[in-house]
Parts: sequence; C-alpha cells; structure tokens
Amino acid sequence: MDKMVFKGDIVFTSIKDKLEIYEDSYLIVENGKVVKISKVLEESYKDYPLKDYTKKLIIPGFVDLHLHAPQYPNRGLGLDKELIPWLETYTFPEEEKYYDLEYSRKVFTRLIKDLWSVGTTRSVVFASIHKESTKLLMDLFIESGLGAYVGKVNMDRNTKKELTEDTATSILETEEILIEYKDKSELVKPIITPRFAPTCTEGLLEALGSLAIKHKAPVQSHLNENTSEVIWVKELFPASKNYASVYDDFNLFGQTKTIMAHCIYNTDEEIELMAENGVYAAHCPYSNYNLSSGIMPVKKFLDMGVPVGLASDISGGNSLSMMSIIAGAIQASKMKWLETNKELAPLTFSEGFYLATKGGGSFFGKVGSFEEDYDFDALVIDDSSLSDIKELTIEERLQKFIYIGDDRNIIARYVKGRKIEKPF
Ligand code: GUN
Ligand code: FE
Repeated sequence: MDKMVFKGDIVFTSIKDKLEIYEDSYLIVENGKVVKISKVLEESYKDYPLKDYTKKLIIPGFVDLHLHAPQYPNRGLGLDKELIPWLETYTFPEEEKYYDLEYSRKVFTRLIKDLWSVGTTRSVVFASIHKESTKLLMDLFIESGLGAYVGKVNMDRNTKKELTEDTATSILETEEILIEYKDKSELVKPIITPRFAPTCTEGLLEALGSLAIKHKAPVQSHLNENTSEVIWVKELFPASKNYASVYDDFNLFGQTKTIMAHCIYNTDEEIELMAENGVYAAHCPYSNYNLSSGIMPVKKFLDMGVPVGLASDISGGNSLSMMSIIAGAIQASKMKWLETNKELAPLTFSEGFYLATKGGGSFFGKVGSFEEDYDFDALVIDDSSLSDIKELTIEERLQKFIYIGDDRNIIARYVKGRKIEKPF
C-alpha cells in the first residue's frame, strides 16, 4: 500500500464559507487518498515516508472547469470583438488547423506543460472537431499524469465549411472515442461536447443525448454567454422554452453530469433547472470581460444551489492561472454587487478559493479538498518571497499567493498522491 505523510501549513475548504487551516501539521495519505490531518504525528504513521514541507503552504490542486485546447495559440489575441464575430474572425480559423497532428502536438504539449506550471491539476477541456487530434490530446494528458475530461467538439451547422461535420460521422466518431477511452485511464476521461446550440442541428443534439445516456458519459457546452447569442438560439429553436431547455429537451442537461460555461443571462427559471438537475456552471470572469459578454451573477447561482466552478475559457480568457481567475471572479462579483444596488453580496476570499478547488473538483468526484477519503491532489507553495515584509497569518499568506503569487511559488504538484514532474 502506498503510504505517505506530508508536513506543512495545510489549508483547504470543505464548505465555501470557511478556510480550514492546520498550522505545522501532518497529512496522512494512503493509496492516493487523504486519511487524516493531525497536529501530532501518531505512532502508527511514524514509519510512513515523510515529505517535510515545513513553513510551506499545502493546498488542493486547482481545477479549471472549462477551456479550449486548440485555442491556446490565440491566447491574448483578438479580444476586440463580441462572441459571434470573435468566433468567426479569430477562433474558427485557428480551430480549422487541427487535422494536422504535428501542429496539434506542438500546441497541446505546450498547453499541458503550462497547466502543470500554474498548478492546474484537473481540467475540463474542449478539443476541436478532429477525432485524431482529440485522441492525441487525451494521450498527452495521460502521459502527463494530470487529470482531465476531454471532448471532441460536435458541430454540424452555422460554422465554416471546413468545420462543418457530417452529422452521422460526428456521432460515430464521438461514440468511437467514448468506447476507446472509457477505461483507458483512471484520470483522463471523454466528455460529450456539443459546441453550443447554434452550431448543432436538432438531429445531432438528439443523438448526443442518447450517447450520453447509453454510455453514462458526461456533457459540456456553452449557455447564455452573449445577448445576441441568446436571441439567435430563440430563433433557431422556437419550440424550446428557453436556452437551457434546448439542452434539457435533448437529455444534455444533467441527465448525466453536465457543465455549462458562462451562464451570464440565465433567467431564474433556467437557474432553477440547473439546481434541480445538478448542472454545473463554469464561471469564466476574464473571458466575459474580454468578449464584453457581461458579469455572471455567481452569488445568485450559489444561493440557489447550483454547483459552480471557475474556468479560464482559453482563449476567450487570457489567463491560464486559477490564482488570477480566483481574484478575477471576486472582482467581478464586486462589480455585480454595485450593479445590483448592493443586493447580491460579493464573493468572499474563501468562496473564491473554494470555487477553484472543491467547487470545480466535485465534478471529478472526491477532488479539491483534504477531507477524509479525498484524492490527494495538492500544491506545495513556497511563499517566502511574498511574505517577508511583515508577519502574516496563514490565511493572509494564502491571500498574498492568490493575488500576487505565480507559478514560481509552486514547488511541487501531486495528483492522487503521485508527484507530477514537469511533463514532456
Ligand atoms: N461559444 C461557442 N463556442 C465558444 C468558444 O469557443 N468560446 C466561448 N467563449 N464561447 C463559445
Ligand atoms: Fe468556451
């Protein structure tokens, strides 16, 4: 049995409202899972190998609940348009290139290396429509040791000719990946990925919903990101009650576990449906700024019982760092607070941290916390360069790291108890 003891200043959140802090304590791991945390090392654990990270912070690994791997070369580029013209001008021309496996490999190895650097130990990723490139991305994640859900994108209308799939082929290729990757890896899994309602015919959505149920496969897509998009969906799907029900009508809305990115313009009815069906909202604050999409009322989703995580949404978003995105989400929530005449409270620091760890992590199972039986996904933070001006509490040290730290402060990464070295 794999056994280990980690010593350091341990911080995590089991509920969103409170940081749990164990100063100079011992965390016991067996078979990749947390057994317990204690102030004094009990006799029975004294022969376990000890990783001594005294004076370092030990926190859960970060979870990025939504990003587009083939958009990585566009990061920081073309952020001068709103969603639909942005897709047409910058994004589709880039995504068209991924029939090329050499180019795919170049982009994906760089992305995974950078995810490793910034301490994102689990992510939920859109690939492109290209089957082989999607498989390559999954294989590279497997090789890296990081956890991921990866989806081959489906779209069979309203995009460039080069990205318009034949409906039957799109369905066949999706099922091929579901079967091939179902049990290939414990940490890297397939996810069904209709790009968003406007680029999918009803026939395609219906078939994908059936595949989700048949293979008990999870689902991801986009929802209510931009006002023009919302109007367009109404025109395209006149029979559906609202945007969320387009997915719900085709069994793509929580019938299996589901993530919807953005959710800025959800009606109360749509938020309630997400809560009822347990559909996750991936909040992407930087993307929503860059594409002038709007500010998601994240607190309202939390209050109404929707599971929420944070996401980079590369390349609508410019930052891959979940530290920055936590700060960005808290800042966005403050602007929303003003916009609602101080009705919708801003996110607290602890809530922001929770969303980037356990909030998104729960999509993967017992991930994102150090409660008993959770996967030991962890980062070790040397914050000595940030906290050498005045004495800081552990909570203040974590705040400093989140607001002004970066990958240089992360000195070790673990996924399910295994130390992950820089990949490739
Ligand atoms: N909606 C449909 N496709 C996309 C995408 O690639 N990025 C974002 N931000 N929204 C989308
Ligand atoms: Fe997106």
